[in-house]
This record gives sequence, structure tokens and C-alpha cells, in this order.
Amino acid sequence: AAVKRYQFDIQVKNVSRLCHAKPIVTVNGMFPGPTIYVREGDRVLVNVTNHAKYNMSIHWHGLKQYRNGWADGRAYITQCPIQTGNSYVYDFNVTEQRGTLWWHAHILWLRATVYGAIVVMPKQGTPFPFPKPDREEVILLGEWWNADVEVVESQGNSLGLPPNMSDAHTINGKPGPLFPCSEKHTFAMEVEQGKAYLLRLLNSALNDELFFAIADHNMTVVEIDAVYTKPFSTQAILIAPGPFSDAPIPIDNKTATAILQYKGIPDTLIPKLPLLPAKNDSSFALNYEKNLKSLNSPQYPANVPLKVDRNLFFTIGLGKNSCPSCLNGTRLTASLNNITFVMPQMGLLQAHYYNMKGVFTTDFPEKPPTPFNYTGAPLTANLGTSKGTRLSRISFNSTVELVLQDTNLLTVESHPFHLHGYNFFVVGTGIGNFDPAKDPSRYNLVDPPERNTVGVPTGGWTAIRFRADNPGVWFLHCHLELHTGWGLKTAFVVEDGPGPDQKVLPPPNDLPPC
Ligand code: C2O
Repeated sequence: AAVKRYQFDIQVKNVSRLCHAKPIVTVNGMFPGPTIYVREGDRVLVNVTNHAKYNMSIHWHGLKQYRNGWADGRAYITQCPIQTGNSYVYDFNVTEQRGTLWWHAHILWLRATVYGAIVVMPKQGTPFPFPKPDREEVILLGEWWNADVEVVESQGNSLGLPPNMSDAHTINGKPGPLFPCSEKHTFAMEVEQGKAYLLRLLNSALNDELFFAIADHNMTVVEIDAVYTKPFSTQAILIAPGPFSDAPIPIDNKTATAILQYKGIPDTLIPKLPLLPAKNDSSFALNYEKNLKSLNSPQYPANVPLKVDRNLFFTIGLGKNSCPSCLNGTRLTASLNNITFVMPQMGLLQAHYYNMKGVFTTDFPEKPPTPFNYTGAPLTANLGTSKGTRLSRISFNSTVELVLQDTNLLTVESHPFHLHGYNFFVVGTGIGNFDPAKDPSRYNLVDPPERNTVGVPTGGWTAIRFRADNPGVWFLHCHLELHTGWGLKTAFVVEDGPGPDQKVLPPPNDLPPC
């Protein structure tokens, strides 16, 4: 194992796309940011120096950070932000993961432009469990906003209406030739006939789940969330993640394109556009999800918890709360078990580690206060939620099942849920109300996909299982920033275990002060 060092300078840079030039926050002046290359087992030290006027924190999405939430990077959950002029070294080990992950700013909506890939190669001498590709390439899907992202974010958080969304999707920061002023902002990849290419695909869009396809080519999925999968062939890929359905906000004409150029074939041919599934093609999405399975080989077993110590059932709701200063006197809100999460003013991990009182409570309800027909007709009355910094306390090494149930309060929607600090197994999913008497008998407990983010389908449910063997405070949230901002989040406090190597590590000396 090696030690890999990176310097991330957070700096503002002028970038132009779609005929608009504007200053954006970047890492090292790059958009998208640099790729981190590591091997399983490496120690990684990333020194983040903040030269911008915004507070910053960087999250290493999908890295487990065993006992080491201090390097997880969610502002106000595991650290206070890095202030202007200050630095913080994220110091972590990469263990038992191989594949493609990513990093992104995890404060406000700054991940709109502050994001990049993490490539985790297997240990030296360990081959991939699939044929060796001739070459590989990182493909980062993202967005471009002509407007100021902070303005859009504050509209999203304070209006009674969803804000205007981004103006284009991008592939490696480039929207492609279908957009104005974008001929030179087109990503192109040169390939040779008969060779095999490994594409490391990531979706960094703030508020959209996306499809990816290449005209006249099938792709084979081999890994997802840094876990190998049973290979399956597909014409289109759905990322990140979850049964796609109607987009939360109606969008049009944001499709990004890039060019796959065959070596030796003249580029005067008009590029062909691939066919993408329709935006509301839920049967494509459900089929795609069904094909996703853990490899579950002797070398890479799927250790699915078969017995559950703790059953949690969280309803996902969108609603409205009164807001005297907002347009129409209300603002959109979101909740889990009717609780809208309130961000604290200091890091919850510090509060937990130093046993400070009054920062959070651990009385998050195990199930909704009053069961109802979650996915029946919209329940537009009584949309108010209660607010609080309420967490669930989980005993060390217990096995947890969490069912996430979408509800039809204002409307049904799909939600990509992400848990920090863990991978989990997606043992079941379905449309309608979860039925505790019937649905568990249909779970896949043999080779379910192992993920760090999972889609809860529109008007449906998803069940996940994990073993709580990583002590600390771990954020659980919808990865659509609009919903996170509305309060669709909470955290798990996983207690220390009895052994000396089962406790949260002491905080590093340079942890940013609150
Ligand atoms: Cu990629 Cu908490 O997020």
C-alpha cells in the first residue's frame, strides 16, 4: 500500500459555456475537478486549501471512512466547514473497495461545480473479474447553470415554488454541439475497432437522475458503487441511481452529447444520436434495476445480513410549512417520518465524540407516527411537519433493515438515497405500499446489489440492510440537492464497540474549528 498526496486549491475561475461567462468555484481551476487515482489499501491525504469566499467541505462519496468520520466531509455533520484562508487535510484509507467513486463539495449547492472522480484500482497483482480493457476513461455527467447557483439555491429553499433549474447537462464539463456556442465544448473520445474500453461513469447532476447511451453500441455493466456486479449487457445506463420516473421539475432540451470517434474513419460523417429511454420509462428503470446483482463470488462474497436486529421504516414526504417571509406565506419542505431535519451549527460527530448535550437528540421515530395509505390519493391536507435535529441511535455491530417508503402527500416522486460511512444491500423494492407480511418473503438475500446510494421508486419502496460496524455519525439523505435543502435527511449515530479498535478515532488536530 502506498501513501497518495493531493493538493486541492479551492479557487474561483472564469468559465464560459452556452455563450455565458461567469466565475465558478473550482478545485485547482479545473471544471470538472481532478481525478484521484488510488489502489485498494492506499492511504490518501488531500490537503484542501480554501481561497474562495465560500465556506467549503469535501465529501468522498462512497468511501467508508472506517472509524474515521472526521474525513467524511459533510459540513455540520462530521466537521465544521473550512473557512476562507484555511486548510484541512482529509486523511483516510481505502479499504475493501475497488471501482469508481467520486468526491464533491458537501455544503450548500457548491457541488454544482466542485466535483471529480475517484478511481480505486484493485490491489497490485489482483486482476479485474472481467476481461482487461485496452483503455479506460472517466465520464462525469454534470450540469451547467447560466444563473448563479447560489441564487437558484436560495430560491429553491425559500419560495413556495421550485426554482429554475440548470440550462444544460454536461459530459466531462461540456454540453456538446446541440447547445449554442458549444462546438468547442464537446467531449470526444477516440476509439479503435475491436478494442475494449472501460468507461467509469458518474452522475454529478444536482437534481436529476440521468440516462447514458452510445449510438449503435451495447455496454456491459461490471461494477457499481465500487462493488463488482454480475455483468449484464444494456443499451442504456441509468445513473445515479434509482428507478427513474418523471423528473422532479419538468425539463427540456438539456441532453448533453459527446463524440465517440473511430480512429481512421473520417470525421465528416454526421454523428448519430443514440436512443435514450423516455424520461418517464419506468419499465426500463425497473428492468435495469432487476439486472443489477452482486458478483457474490468466492473472492467477492455478498455478506447479506440474514437476521435483522433493528427494523426501521421511514416515510419520505414532500409538504409545505408556513414561512411568513416567503412568497405565498409557505415554503416547500420535505420530511422523513414527518420530521424535517434542522442542520445544527456545529459538527454532530464532535458533539457525539465529546458527549455534548443539547446539539441533537436520538429519538428519531422508528416508524411513521400514524400509518396511512402512503401511495393512495394525494393527501394535501395536513402537510405540516415537525422540525428537529433528531437522529437514530444504533448499537455497534447490530444488523439494520431500513425500508424507505415514498408517500403521496403533495405528489409522488423518486428519490436517490445515500448513506454515508456504509455500503448496504438492496434486498427489495416495489411499487405501492410496503407490506411487512408479504414483501420480505420476496427479498433477494443471495446476491442483492451492494450500494451506497439507492433509488426509492416513485410511489414505491426500497428495503436495504447493513451491519452497523462503523462507529460514528453518518448522514442519510436524498441526493437531490433541492430535497436535501428542504429537509430530506437525518443521521445515524452508531455507537462505539467494546474493542479498542472498534471506537471512533480521535479527531485530527487540524479539524476546522466551529
Ligand atoms: Cu454524495 Cu452526502 O453525498
